[in-house]
Amino acid sequence: EKGGFDFFMEKEIAEQPEALASTLSGHLENGRIVLDEQRLTDQDLRDVDKVFVVACGTAYNAGLLAKYAIEHWVRIPVEVELASEFRYRDPVLDRSTLVVAISQSGETADTLEAVRHAKEQNARVLAICNTNGAQIPRESDAVLYTHAGPEIGVASTKCFLAQIAAAYLVGLALAQARGTKYADEVAREFDAMEQMSAVIADVLTTMDPVRELARDLAKADTVLFIGRHVGYPVALEGALKLKELAYIHAEGFAAGELKHGPIALIEDGLPVIVVMPSREGRAVLHSKMVSNIREIQARGARTIVIAEADDEGAAAVADHLIVIPKTPTLLQPLVTTVPLQIFAATVAATRGYDVDKPRNLAKSVTVE
Ligand code: F6R
Repeated sequence: EKGGFDFFMEKEIAEQPEALASTLSGHLENGRIVLDEQRLTDQDLRDVDKVFVVACGTAYNAGLLAKYAIEHWVRIPVEVELASEFRYRDPVLDRSTLVVAISQSGETADTLEAVRHAKEQNARVLAICNTNGAQIPRESDAVLYTHAGPEIGVASTKCFLAQIAAAYLVGLALAQARGTKYADEVAREFDAMEQMSAVIADVLTTMDPVRELARDLAKADTVLFIGRHVGYPVALEGALKLKELAYIHAEGFAAGELKHGPIALIEDGLPVIVVMPSREGRAVLHSKMVSNIREIQARGARTIVIAEADDEGAAAVADHLIVIPKTPTLLQPLVTTVPLQIFAATVAATRGYDVDKPRNLAKSVTVE
């Protein structure tokens, strides 16, 4: 059943290339992005002038990434909100607001209630879900199913990557409807996403040094994660995986926030995992991150830097370097997440914990 792996989670990490491919499959037809259960008209999509993404946990982190892509491609504002906060805040919603609810299970109580609140306020609701016929897609106006296959490990892995891809498809569908991207550009972005399956498969074959590092750091009390731009949600996801699986205090920060408080946490030997911005795609952020690394090293941090191939700047400063292939910036999270999943799973297994069933957690949270 576990296909030769010790844990479902490891199997599900290994299945990510297929999860991504199946999620994208069939969604580009004659140069147009198609959604699954489309009860919204083209005019409805054209009228969207504001997007809210609501979700919990890992799905929320996928939502944060959606903001970068949708704002960039569609030029409309996107807010990302924890589902548990959304409806208690009296958010401003109307018929031209699209609420995107992301939920692997499709049954998460807070996300479902956020959907209901949005519908009461006449907003349009689109669900991104991995479970056919679950409650959230049933109550939504349109659905995009992530075809990641069943996820048995409590910690979400392949569904996270599939959620990112699905949320990007929503961005392309909106760009197409609102005319901010030509058909050939939409097709190019789609192809670039499809190509990531092979890239992720390659990355998966190079993870032994990450496992070794994880065994070496398994006794850490705290691990910090920093990122910038799309690397920031990845840092949050890396920290979430580590705390939920390995029960280690882990926090993710936007690297620019270090000076505003978190840098006080740095002490001798503290491991800090850095998600390095692309040197070519985000040169300014890259050099700011090199400075951040120097600043924390000067205070004793042990830096583990995830950087693209040929990133000499990162290689020169990193205490430990994890090399990933070069990708377009918005797609980088699909690869930088992989070493963080493996890191968390290996630390947890080294500490003797059941990676598939972390303590105190349930796969589907159906109470608020
Ligand atoms: C973390 C994890 C959870 C879920 C969250 C939302 O690894 O799995 O944070 O992402 O409970 O669940 P869904 O996506 O089913 O709404």
